[in-house]
Amino acid sequence: MADTPPLNVSTWKEAVEFAPGVHWIGALDPTLRTFDIILKTANGTTYNSYLVRGSEGVAIIDTVKEGFEDEFFHRLESVARYDEIKVIVLNHLEPDHSGALPELMRRAPQARLYISTRATSMLKALLRPNREEPFEYTTVTTNDRVSLGDRHLRFLHTPFLHWPDTQCTYLEEEQVLFSGDVFGCHYCDVRLFNDRVGDFRFSFDYYYAHIMRPFKQWVMEALALIEPLKMKIVAPTHGPILRERPRRYVAHYRELSTSTLSREIGDTNKSLIIFYMSSYGNTARMAEAIYSGADTVEGVRVSLYDLEGGEVAPFVDLIEDADALLFGSPTINGDAVKPVWDLLSSLAVVNLKGKIGAAFGSYGWSGEAVRMVEDRMRGLKMRVPREGLRVKLIPTQEELDECTGLGREIANILVGKEVQRGVIEFSDLT
Ligand SMILES: Cc1cc2nc3c(=O)[nH]c(=O)nc-3n(C[C@H](O)[C@H](O)[C@H](O)COP(=O)(O)O)c2cc1C
Repeated sequence: MADTPPLNVSTWKEAVEFAPGVHWIGALDPTLRTFDIILKTANGTTYNSYLVRGSEGVAIIDTVKEGFEDEFFHRLESVARYDEIKVIVLNHLEPDHSGALPELMRRAPQARLYISTRATSMLKALLRPNREEPFEYTTVTTNDRVSLGDRHLRFLHTPFLHWPDTQCTYLEEEQVLFSGDVFGCHYCDVRLFNDRVGDFRFSFDYYYAHIMRPFKQWVMEALALIEPLKMKIVAPTHGPILRERPRRYVAHYRELSTSTLSREIGDTNKSLIIFYMSSYGNTARMAEAIYSGADTVEGVRVSLYDLEGGEVAPFVDLIEDADALLFGSPTINGDAVKPVWDLLSSLAVVNLKGKIGAAFGSYGWSGEAVRMVEDRMRGLKMRVPREGLRVKLIPTQEELDECTGLGREIANILVGKEVQRGVIEFSDLT
């Protein structure tokens, strides 16, 4: 590759060799500004595809998005013939990696496709228009190997990163990990390698936060397979190829996947957070009473936040580490209030399954908000062990005492002092 890459990427069609017999043959998409609806892409993205040459054949690992086939096939043809292709691996079947697969299979019909077991049904659904010519494929799992003669590909089963079908592929002889979307990011730079491209740290972390973060537990399981590998290069499906200190990125994933609260303060306490909104102070009074009740329970760290004084994003981070969440909203025009919904609708990036939830709020006559918030919490697979508290207008001392009791009860459930009531929870059923 030239030292100074061309700025006009549309004219640049080189395959790039980055280990002996290992080429990048992907495509660049520098003008893309939004990916998958939820991700911003300030300078576009790349669809990385790789070619590995062995003494007894060639392997292609992942393809590119539909519409980028020309670039991909041009690069491929510059380093291999189609009749040499023996193996095609799809680490993840999302359309941005499988778009060129039907055409590749047509051009290399002798090639064998290797996918994870969970990818089988997706393969059929994604390639529906091509059903008249179904592909032969082999499903593989951790430590299955494919030989290219003097080169061997080994598979690692790494599901849910970020689709159920995800796997990684390790080229043993060159110690290259083809990681799929793990360790990737949406960052387009013709200089391709982490030691040469611009500063892409924001993009790496942003990608993790929006794509991998809901699957932290699966990340940890994948890291247990990945960390013991000897690793010269990590080659993801988006963004820079990590050839300088690749282990730093692996270690960073472990950091990002470890609870920040317990990491920062070594806290073994359970975390209970109360969020509320209040116009005349009634729901606020309930919140304070709940707080005082929860705070009497040893082993529970209680936090109280008025949503009027906060932004959504930092609260989402707190929620991720919390064990119990209580939301307080008055009923306004038959609904819970917008800041509460804003927070509740921003939680798709964190895993809430099994966290304890409860709702409360003051109302004037119909009081729908509490039930609505409870339904949302159940929809997020939280456990809602008891009915929330609704208070008509100004809470009496008796009602405030009930609030104190609610706080104490939820906190006791957290530390195992109080058995959850026999409510059937959505999260139990999934
Ligand atoms: C604009 C407005 C709309 C309201 N709509 C409802 C409603 O639809 N149903 C209801 O039960 N109460 C309604 N209320 C009454 C409030 O829920 C009630 O005043 C409550 O005590 C406010 O609690 P807060 O002091 O925590 O804000 C409404 C109040 C206002 C000001």
